[in-house]
Amino acid sequence: MNRAVRIQGTFVHTQRLGNLEILHDYLLVTDSTGVIAHFEAADSAQSQAALSSYAEPCITLPPGHFILPNFVDLHLHAPQFLYQGNGLHLPLMEWLNEYAFKAEERLDGDAALARRVYTRLARRLIQDGTGTVLLFGTIKEHTNLVLAEVMQKAGLRAFVGKLSMDISSRPSYMESSAQTSLQAAHSFVEKCRDLTASLPTHERLVEPVLTPRFVPTCSDELLVGLGKLSAAENLKIQSHLAEAHDQVEVVRSERGVEDIQVFDRSGLLTARTIQAHCTFLDVPSFKHVHSCGTSIAHCPLSNSYFSAEPFRLREALDEGVQIGLGTDIAGGYSLDLMNSMRHAVSISRMRQGAKIMAGLTDDDGKTLAIDWKEALYLATKGGAAALGLMTGVFAVGSPFDAQEICVFDSRGGGVGALDFFDHEGPGAVADPSVTIEMVEKWWCLGNAVNRTGMWV
Ligand code: GUN
Ligand code: FE
Repeated sequence: MNRAVRIQGTFVHTQRLGNLEILHDYLLVTDSTGVIAHFEAADSAQSQAALSSYAEPCITLPPGHFILPNFVDLHLHAPQFLYQGNGLHLPLMEWLNEYAFKAEERLDGDAALARRVYTRLARRLIQDGTGTVLLFGTIKEHTNLVLAEVMQKAGLRAFVGKLSMDISSRPSYMESSAQTSLQAAHSFVEKCRDLTASLPTHERLVEPVLTPRFVPTCSDELLVGLGKLSAAENLKIQSHLAEAHDQVEVVRSERGVEDIQVFDRSGLLTARTIQAHCTFLDVPSFKHVHSCGTSIAHCPLSNSYFSAEPFRLREALDEGVQIGLGTDIAGGYSLDLMNSMRHAVSISRMRQGAKIMAGLTDDDGKTLAIDWKEALYLATKGGAAALGLMTGVFAVGSPFDAQEICVFDSRGGGVGALDFFDHEGPGAVADPSVTIEMVEKWWCLGNAVNRTGMWV
């Protein structure tokens, strides 16, 4: 971990929504803590000096390879990885009771199983290029400490949330009172911080996050207490907001208000907060969310199953809300954030299509659809910014969290290489550099096989 990295080749990143940069023949050098110390065209005088002044060997990327920031998964239920890809036929509130709560309770009662599930999850995240993840865990402290320990050991940047819930449809899976729950939340924060306290700062990859599951499982007393704890200890907060029809109805009938009002009056809409879904929020609510500095984890696949309506992504972006993408395992069945990007684009295009069909298009060229470059921003810089991280782009001062992608193998059809007929066969350019068409094709068709390296 304490080793400088030097890489020369093509870098791809998106610093602003819709703006993609392909930087050919750049040199990137990190310091011994993994922070980018130099990033410039390789033929600059400074790069030439950097090339000769470091002892470490320089990695030179082969043609057809590029370096991209790691993906940030802004919403994932780690224990639900146990049953990923099963049981998505039910509406949310029934699904939680039938699948989610049972699986989580099972892991809370079997630490060895939890360790196995979390170890496999970490391995799969690395295969899929996810280097940072915001996790929901279970209720029990020990299981969440196992989760934090496994993520730290795997070298993943992980924000770990011990669930807070003092109300449940499953009496064996809940905390006994608001006070018990608050004490447990506080205790987990301390123990999770202790896990890495002896390490140098740059090696501390896990951080505890306060995690009121959602309004239906949290009393007002618990929510207010967590709001105070977050403020006192400067802790991030994650939850689910305005996700599904049945969930929204439960909150209305039980509390007489919308869940956004419950979070707001409990001090839980802060600049440290990431709320998943927000499917049913309208523009005035986005304005409010933005004014609070709260970020949103957009989970398009999960929305398709549970939410009945698409998230108003373009409107939220236009209001300046910070947004990243989440897989929402197991409400979404795919752990690969590339699929989240694709689903985000598909759903947004359907929204734009419906608008056209309804004769509602404006003349100003504005579209509800997002394109692949915008989705790539959300999956990298968008998610990182939501978590207050400097990763997600290549810039001096940012930690080097990155993946290496191979799209083209000029030596002929390497495993996973995509098909570029103009660059193959008789008359082909020997070593074509990475083009925007290659990156776009990878975005549509690529998978874990194209991933040839990863750094956190
Ligand atoms: N709302 C409360 N808990 C959950 C959960 O586990 N998954 C999803 N998708 N929504 C939730
Ligand atoms: Fe969720």
